[in-house]
Amino acid sequence: MITHTSYGVEPWALRERGLHLDVLPQSESVFALSNGHVGWRGNLDEGEPHGLPGSYLNGVHETHPLPYAEAGYGYPESGQTVINVTNGKVIRLLVDDEPFDLRYGRLRSHERVLDLRTGLLTRTCEWTSPAGSTVRVRSTRLVSFTQRAIAAVAYEVEAVDSEVRIVVQSELVANEQLPGRDGDPRAAVALQSPLEEEEHFASGARLRLIHRTRRSGLRVGAAADHVVTGPERTTIAGEANVDVARLTVTSVLPPGEKLRVEKLVSYGWSGTRSLPAVADQVDAALAAAASFGWSGLVDEQRAFLDEFWARSDVEVDGDEEIQQAVRFGLFHVLQAGARAEQRAIPAKGLTGSGYDGHAFWDTETFVLPLLTYTSPRAVAEALRWRQNTLPAARDRAAQLGLRGAAFPWRTIEGSEGSAYWPAGTAAFHVNADIADAVVRYTAVTGDERFARDTGVELLVETARLWRSLGHHDHHGDFHIDGVTGPDEYSAVANDNTYTNLMARANLLAAAETVERYPRRAAELGVDDEESAAWRDAAEAMHVPYNHELGVHEQHAGFTRYQRWDFAATRPDQYPLMLHFPYFDLYRKQVVKQADLVLAMYKCSPFFDEEHKARNFAYYEPLTVRDSSLSACCQAVIAVEAGHPRLAYDYLHEAALMDLHDLEHNTRDGLHIASLAGTWMALVAGFGGMRQHGASLEFAPRLPEKFRRLAFTLELLGRRLRVEIVQARATYTLLSGEPLTIRHHGEPLTVDQNKPHHRDIPALSPRSAPAQPLHRRPNNQGVEAS
Ligand code: BGC
Repeated sequence: MITHTSYGVEPWALRERGLHLDVLPQSESVFALSNGHVGWRGNLDEGEPHGLPGSYLNGVHETHPLPYAEAGYGYPESGQTVINVTNGKVIRLLVDDEPFDLRYGRLRSHERVLDLRTGLLTRTCEWTSPAGSTVRVRSTRLVSFTQRAIAAVAYEVEAVDSEVRIVVQSELVANEQLPGRDGDPRAAVALQSPLEEEEHFASGARLRLIHRTRRSGLRVGAAADHVVTGPERTTIAGEANVDVARLTVTSVLPPGEKLRVEKLVSYGWSGTRSLPAVADQVDAALAAAASFGWSGLVDEQRAFLDEFWARSDVEVDGDEEIQQAVRFGLFHVLQAGARAEQRAIPAKGLTGSGYDGHAFWDTETFVLPLLTYTSPRAVAEALRWRQNTLPAARDRAAQLGLRGAAFPWRTIEGSEGSAYWPAGTAAFHVNADIADAVVRYTAVTGDERFARDTGVELLVETARLWRSLGHHDHHGDFHIDGVTGPDEYSAVANDNTYTNLMARANLLAAAETVERYPRRAAELGVDDEESAAWRDAAEAMHVPYNHELGVHEQHAGFTRYQRWDFAATRPDQYPLMLHFPYFDLYRKQVVKQADLVLAMYKCSPFFDEEHKARNFAYYEPLTVRDSSLSACCQAVIAVEAGHPRLAYDYLHEAALMDLHDLEHNTRDGLHIASLAGTWMALVAGFGGMRQHGASLEFAPRLPEKFRRLAFTLELLGRRLRVEIVQARATYTLLSGEPLTIRHHGEPLTVDQNKPHHRDIPALSPRSAPAQPLHRRPNNQGVEAS
């Protein structure tokens, strides 16, 4: 188990005691603050030591040529990489001429706390300089949920036992030096000096830097303002040059006296606005924030989070670690999406530069379901971003000889950023995943305007893609050949079951929506013939099945392949993609991540109970979980297949992916989908929640360890609370009209008058399927049973 004793377990906070340089890069990710627009990694105030300095603005990226050994038609030529923008969090300190650098002198105490209820990251430490002067430093940081452009720091230094001369330098720094890459292909290409200076400015306590990215031509503005409180002999002076704007504060502190610097930072960027316009934009945001002041921002942050927790909290009794992890996950998913506003939600959120800052299907499949039931506005915004990128998706479809829209596998600004066709563009399922998110959002919120203005277009263009990508054979069956499903250890295969079932749902949803919004459909050029063709394709969709084994095939012919030799694979040879050639992975039965198992969750009604159990038993021994997206899906189906203990172990793995750095790459940023997957494993897994159209079902079943699981959902204009103990579930409608749901198949109408209790049917004992050798779920070595 890769964990660190420095992180404590508590219900509403993540606390690090002491400073542990070995986990510094990981701590920067777990302590990252973001609102979906601005992201600050949890770097130390003084900038050094660091693992990876990181300040991000959602959408700000640089482009670079994508090199290929051999050219091929339709290969994307330009890649996109998130860049480290102007760092507004730097506050350096000099104590009697010695830099406050924790690698020197004596660190008497150091603690960092991320408080999930206030949204504040607080650091307190006491340090004695090499020359023997002792200071106490307390800094508190926030990235505002309510003022999208704003981040802030309150920094306090106190002299402890003797008078000290203090210099505080509060800075905006562009083009920070970044550490070299370590060879992990998933880590970002650290572009050195991506910003060209356009303007620098300092006056009094106000600072501003405007830069422009060299190739992508995006203008990035950052401004800062300060309120300084200190003893009489305190002075301030501002200065700016090409890449640094700095406020220098000097003071002499008698013992017990404090110097306090409140720093407000605003950010803005644009691909079109002029330099004066961007400068005005950041100044205006700063003026608005200054009118609230630090304490106003703190109050607003708390109020925003109080509301969030009231509608989203998940309570787990009996497992403190999972309790902390699910709240940590909810908080970071909120941070990733809350104010992204028509920008992508990247796989790492704004917590690191891993995966080059790209967004994948992770957003629609893992992140948006959670947000749909807890922060639906963020979902509408994320899908509007997809709509805004339709021109690029239409061009891509045309380039590929297809109709409609082909959304990119990975991207920042909308165009395909994957240079690897088999696990990139061929993963066409991303289009159905987007459609699925549209359908869920509209069913859960009833947002008619969105359905008409955004939903129809997304459903129509993706349905067009499927109709042109697939074909009817001579029996009339519809096939989608040559595509890659979620499992990236199979590629360019025929009739991937997940893809086909998701495409089927996409085609049917498109056909239904054009009937509901005929005017909008006509504007998009849809006629009866076209929508009838979608229905025909959906109804004739082929789903491969092995009659001998009685299981669904992940794709046509999959169950005939040779099985991977798990016995001969050493534990250090995982992830397999870094130790074996893709060609071999592709032609064997080995599954990187839940694929058919995910289909059984997303397209649940298609599979009967018996097949769910049988398919799960078949795919478990083949699934190696080389992706962090797998464990949560396996948890969901493990519960349904009657293995709550195994599901618990998968939940554990998904939930602790980052807190325990299970994949050794948390330093590059958090696994946002896996964090969202914690919610999914609890709500859809142990809560057994499934929603198909307007029908909402629960089939709760707790693992032995849990005494109680409770969660709240917002849906169909109501707030519903579900509380589960071992033998009983209680459904309480907190607001809204009566609602009919199902509990383990039985209909139940809940109204506001009283809690509705229902017994949980007993589970007959059955033995859980085994996993590949060395690939048991990672739960502190406890064997699954
Ligand atoms: C997974 C993909 C995922 C990507 C980003 C890959 O390892 O196989 O399914 O979209 O990571 O999280």
